[in-house]
Amino acid sequence: MKDSFGREINYLRLSLTDFCNFRCAYCMPKEGVEAKKRQEILTLEEIYAIARHFVQMGVSKLRLTGGEPMLRPGHLGLIFSLSQLESLKDLAMTTNGSFLSSQAQKLKEAGLKRVNISLDSLKADVFKEITHSDLGPVLEGIDAALECGLKVKINTVLLKGINEGEIEDFARLTLDRPLDVRFIELMPLGERADFSKKHFLSCDRVLDKLELVKETEQIKGSAATLYRYKNGLGKIGLISPLSCNFCGECNRLRLSCEGKLRPCLHSDYYVDLLAPLRRGEDLTPYILEALENKPLHHFLKEGHKTKESMHRIGG
Ligand code: 5AD
Ligand code: SF4
Repeated sequence: MKDSFGREINYLRLSLTDFCNFRCAYCMPKEGVEAKKRQEILTLEEIYAIARHFVQMGVSKLRLTGGEPMLRPGHLGLIFSLSQLESLKDLAMTTNGSFLSSQAQKLKEAGLKRVNISLDSLKADVFKEITHSDLGPVLEGIDAALECGLKVKINTVLLKGINEGEIEDFARLTLDRPLDVRFIELMPLGERADFSKKHFLSCDRVLDKLELVKETEQIKGSAATLYRYKNGLGKIGLISPLSCNFCGECNRLRLSCEGKLRPCLHSDYYVDLLAPLRRGEDLTPYILEALENKPLHHFLKEGHKTKESMHRIGG
């Protein structure tokens, strides 16, 4: 499956819900989100049907996201069904990690291969300030995921004045454990965009602070530039959406829980799949329309802001 610029599109992110039990200051409104009517969101069967269609069209990697995907009842059954899709090579999840300590083994048994765990502070009080939730269960969740053999990446959003002093502590997690840490620059998404401008911290700060070796092998389609400590077990990735060095390699599409298919995280453009699916239509032309409208790059540097934040778009 190729877009109009010849980029191979083989990766779909599926949001199972826009609910989250965390309230990360850059993502969720303080009061949370309003519950949607049942008919407004895709059923798990519909999500499966759409995913299968994409896999038949050439998608080989699926990631479940949210909000917090484990808040969607039935997610384990969906993972099992997806894992059975022929020619699917990778099945991953992005999670806040708060349910992982009891769920990791079940996820693994259902067929999940990898988890990306969002973690912006290793200090309980700072963690609470950012998420309005507790750090302990997330740390236990990371242990549980590693123990049962899931591949683990930690996603750390760099926050000026908040977790700036913890860069080295995060990086050092890769020294003795087989996990990767990825530092992500704060993106101006949705209604919390102003917070993002205020607390933006460039990935260059990571390189200033740490002595890292650049990885020679760059993974195609990955948004991260990869480094490691000379004697580290895991890799350290830097994701700098603002300098946009990876749009040209972008291989992904996103589907929200309402069935909105977005070809670019930083554009408000989407194609609705829910209505045509419920009308029993073939989804191919709708998917091709989204592909045709996948932009070559975003306009963040020009000050463009999206209306929706990550919990609505699907990380
Ligand atoms: N900028 C950067 N990263 C974000 N995330 C959510 N919102 C933003 C934002 N505005 C991160 C989450 C999670 C991943 C899916 O994206 O922390 O790790
Ligand atoms: Fe929840 Fe992730 Fe948004 Fe934080 S960033 S509020 S964990 S969806």
